Amino acid sequence: MQIEDRPVKTVAQSRTEQIQILMPEHINGYQRLFGGKLMEWIDVVAAVAARRHSGCNVTTASVSQLEFTKAAYVNSTIVLKAQLTYVGTTSMEVRVDTFVEHLNGSQEMINRAYLVMVALDENDNPVPVPMLRCETREEELEWEAARRRRAFRKENKLHYVSIKKEKHRRTMEEELFNG
Ligand SMILES: CC(C)(COP(=O)(O)OP(=O)(O)OC[C@H]1O[C@@H](n2cnc3c(N)ncnc32)[C@H](O)[C@@H]1OP(=O)(O)O)[C@@H](O)C(=O)NCCC(=O)NCCS
Repeated sequence: MQIEDRPVKTVAQSRTEQIQILMPEHINGYQRLFGGKLMEWIDVVAAVAARRHSGCNVTTASVSQLEFTKAAYVNSTIVLKAQLTYVGTTSMEVRVDTFVEHLNGSQEMINRAYLVMVALDENDNPVPVPMLRCETREEELEWEAARRRRAFRKENKLHYVSIKKEKHRRTMEEELFNG
């Protein structure tokens, strides 16, 4: 797919939901939902949303702002909702909100996470994905926030690379100096 003639898909087209009932094997030593298990479910639901948007296999590049705001206990109904917030060229940011659903149908949010998934071609190389159309004000605000997170990530990466280069330069200098 060429970047300039990428198709456009809406946020709604790839929205994905996953439901679980918390079983004893999902619980940690403190009788609460084990965070690692929830992270696995989050990764899966985000990957499915990204696959639906891109029509490709995807891999997780990063997870940010993973916030556990409330505990969940055995026998709770857990609802995970994933939606795209942003697309770059080959990457897609996905927001996953996790809720406990009570028996009266009300839902209480217990976690929010943002993941960056990258679409891969048959040779495992990053491949361009369709553009994303925001249809609501909330989706536009999410796009803008995701754009800032992406710029922040890139800045951090550049900073990290320059620190590594400087460290390497000093090591080389020391080696030369010490013969
Ligand atoms: C993610 C991965 C495919 C990126 O490959 P790469 O050679 O760095 O490719 P690029 O530099 O062209 O980056 C491709 C896209 O990924 C994004 N990306 C790369 N590293 C990223 C990171 N750490 N966080 C967020 N986005 C990232 C780039 O911004 C780019 O997005 P864009 O095309 O929308 O601009 C590669 O690093 C990888 O395979 N990582 C391992 C992933 C994995 O195994 N996940 C499972 C975890 S157990």
